[in-house]
Amino acid sequence: MNQIDLRQRVAIITGGARGIGRCIAERLLASGARVSLWDIDASALAQAAGELGAPGVVHTVAVNLADLASVQAATEVTAAAFGRIDILVNNAGITGGNAKTWELDPADWRRVMDINLNGPFYCCRSVVPYLLKNGFGRIVNIASIAGKEGNPNAAHYSASKAAIIALTKSLGKELATSNITVNAIAPAVIATDILKQMTQSHIDYMLSKIPMARFGKKEEAAALVAWICSEKCSFTTAAVFDLSGGRATY
Ligand SMILES: NC(=O)c1ccc[n+]([C@@H]2O[C@H](COP(=O)([O-])OP(=O)(O)OC[C@H]3O[C@@H](n4cnc5c(N)ncnc54)[C@H](O)[C@@H]3O)[C@@H](O)[C@H]2O)c1
Repeated sequence: MNQIDLRQRVAIITGGARGIGRCIAERLLASGARVSLWDIDASALAQAAGELGAPGVVHTVAVNLADLASVQAATEVTAAAFGRIDILVNNAGITGGNAKTWELDPADWRRVMDINLNGPFYCCRSVVPYLLKNGFGRIVNIASIAGKEGNPNAAHYSASKAAIIALTKSLGKELATSNITVNAIAPAVIATDILKQMTQSHIDYMLSKIPMARFGKKEEAAALVAWICSEKCSFTTAAVFDLSGGRATY
């Protein structure tokens, strides 16, 4: 049988309380990893931890990714709880709503950049030293097809996701000889709570662009992430994996 083996691995999953992040947590747990779920929503975290597994296997930290001190504290708490960190999945994100670029509230623009771009930077900055100490690491950034194509009425979100693709490419090269890979996945639309932050016409637009004519599934994202986190995925770094039902053209 061809199984993904993540025994002995400790994974941080940001935005792990719900949606794609929680599904990734389930998938990594099924492969034997221990997980630390980081999220700003403490009650959703407590619910996820109760449903996913025993203490010692599932750990949670209430953290605001937009705040460097909060991220640094979460990193230290996680390292103390498990004694090591092997995997970082930068998954948490927001849409910031939909509007034409010239009508976007600058506060919404900054909030999207703070959470979708600065947050992953703070997480990489805090966690990479632990990966270097291990001599092994996997970082997976959850980007979006919006970062490759630029969705209309979502310039802030699209720009933040394009930027995380560039972060992936730069950091991947910096760590290329360290047995630490840095990759991104670029999903098209997947049905989660995040859709509540978008207009229906925007959701319809995104679905209409997918040749497979359906939403992606959380489980499809989780399966791809689990593979990227494994030792078997060893010669791919600074890369972007497509998950768009045929929408991506590069
Ligand atoms: N669902 C989609 O269609 C889709 C498509 C492409 C990419 N993505 C990306 O996938 C990732 C996960 O999306 P999802 O659909 O599961 O979203 P979701 O809204 O279901 O979950 C996001 C989680 O992030 C947490 N979060 C938000 N701000 C935070 C902060 N400041 N600090 C800590 N945690 C915070 C939320 O509390 C929530 O639990 C996001 O980066 C999103 O942009 C989603």
